[in-house]
Amino acid sequence: MATSEELHKRRVEAVARGVGSTISAYVDRAGGGTITDVDGREWIDFAAGIAVTNVGNSAPRVVEAVRAQVERFTHTCFMVAPYESYVAVCEQLNALTPGGFEKRSALFNSGAEAVENAVKIARHATGRPAVVVFDHAYHGRTNLTMALTAKNMPYKHRFGPFAGEVYRVPMSYPLRDGGLDGATAAARSIEMIEKQVGAENVAALLIEPIQGEGGFVVPAEGFLPALREWATAAGVVFVADEIQTGFCRTGDWFACEHEGVQPDLITLAKGIAGGLPLAAVTGRADLMDAVHVGGLGGTYGGNPIACAAALAAMETMRELDLAAAARRIGAVMGERLDAIAAGDPRVAEVRGRGAMLAVEIVRPGTLTPDPAATAAVSAACHAAGLLTLTCGTYGNVLRFLPPLVISDDELGRGLDILAAAFG
Ligand SMILES: Cc1ncc(COP(=O)(O)O)c(C=O)c1O
Repeated sequence: MATSEELHKRRVEAVARGVGSTISAYVDRAGGGTITDVDGREWIDFAAGIAVTNVGNSAPRVVEAVRAQVERFTHTCFMVAPYESYVAVCEQLNALTPGGFEKRSALFNSGAEAVENAVKIARHATGRPAVVVFDHAYHGRTNLTMALTAKNMPYKHRFGPFAGEVYRVPMSYPLRDGGLDGATAAARSIEMIEKQVGAENVAALLIEPIQGEGGFVVPAEGFLPALREWATAAGVVFVADEIQTGFCRTGDWFACEHEGVQPDLITLAKGIAGGLPLAAVTGRADLMDAVHVGGLGGTYGGNPIACAAALAAMETMRELDLAAAARRIGAVMGERLDAIAAGDPRVAEVRGRGAMLAVEIVRPGTLTPDPAATAAVSAACHAAGLLTLTCGTYGNVLRFLPPLVISDDELGRGLDILAAAFG
C-alpha cells in the first residue's frame, strides 16, 4: 500500500489545489471513534467527517443494508422508476422531525442542494422573493448557498456575483453581543427585516438552530421561539437548517426540539445516512405540495443505496439511543472543557450542546479573536493523534464533533490529548 507521503505527492499532481484537507495523512480504515491511516497511525476522531458519521464509520447495520441494496439494484432514478426505500425514508423523516402537522419530504444529494430546494419551495409557496439569513451563517457552496453563507474566505472569495434577494441580519451571539437576551436580539433582527426588506416580501427566514461553520454559536434562549412567532404572524416560511445539528448530535433528534420550535421546513443531510450522500427537505404538506409535479428532483436524489443506508442509520440511532449518547458525551466533554477554560485565559467561552461543543479562543483579557493560537492548539492535537476541526467567522473556534458511538476510553484519551495541547 502506498504511504501517506507518496499519496500526497500524487495528490498534488492530480487534485485541484482548491480542495483542502485538515490532515495530510491518508485514511486506510475508520470505525467507532478512530481513523487509521495507510501508515498505521491512529487518530481519535473528534470530527466525524464534519458531523456525518454520528452512527460511526462502517456501522454494522449500514454496511449490511448497503451491501444488500447494491446486490438488488444500484440506481433507477426515483423520477423514472420509484422504489420503497425512498418512500420509507420520507415517512420516517416526516414522523421524526418536530411538528405534529402533516408533512412531506423530498430527497437530494447534499446539504447545499437541500437548502436550495427549501428556498425554491418557500418562494413557490409564498410567491415572495426575499430570503433572510444571519450573520455567521453557513449554508453551502453552490451559487445560491454562497449568497446565504456569511463568511468570505474561503467560501466566497472571487466566486461572485452571487444570487440576489438575500438579506442578512444580526445573529444572537451572547459572547459578542453583550449578552443580549433572546427576545431583545430577535427584536433587533426583526426590526431590520421589517425596515430594510419588508415582511411581505420575505419568502423564508433561514437559520441554523446552533450555527456550525460560523462558530458553534448558540443563540440566547428565546431567540428562536421569537423568530418563529414573528414568521408565523408575517406569513414567512421558517426554515431550520439542521444539516449539522441533526440526527441526535445535540442530544435531541433535532436541535429545534430544545426550545420546542416547530419549523415549517427543515433541511437535513450529513448525519442522515451514516456517511452516504443523502439530503432532505421535510416540512408542512401544504408548502411542500404547493410545487407542481416535476418541479423538484434530480438524477441521484434519494439514490437507493443512500436510502438503504439512511434507514439503517436511523434504526441504529433508535436502537443505541444516540441522543442519550450525545448527552453523555456532552456531559463528560463539557466538564473537561470547563476545566481547560478555568486554567487558560485564552478560552473565552465553552459552548454548544450535546456532542456539538466548542471553545472560542481570544487574546487573554480581551474578546480579540486569536486564530493563530487556535490553529496551534489544533495542530498540536493532530500531531498527538486527535483529529479536531476549527471554525468560526474569525477562525478562532475549536470544535468537537465525535461520532456518537465513540467509546468512553476513546473519548477520555481524546480529551487528555486536548488538555495537553492547551498545555
Ligand atoms: C448548517 C449547514 N448547512 C448546509 C451545509 C452544506 O452541506 P453540504 O456540504 O452537504 O452541501 C452545511 C455543511 O457544512 C452545514 O453545516
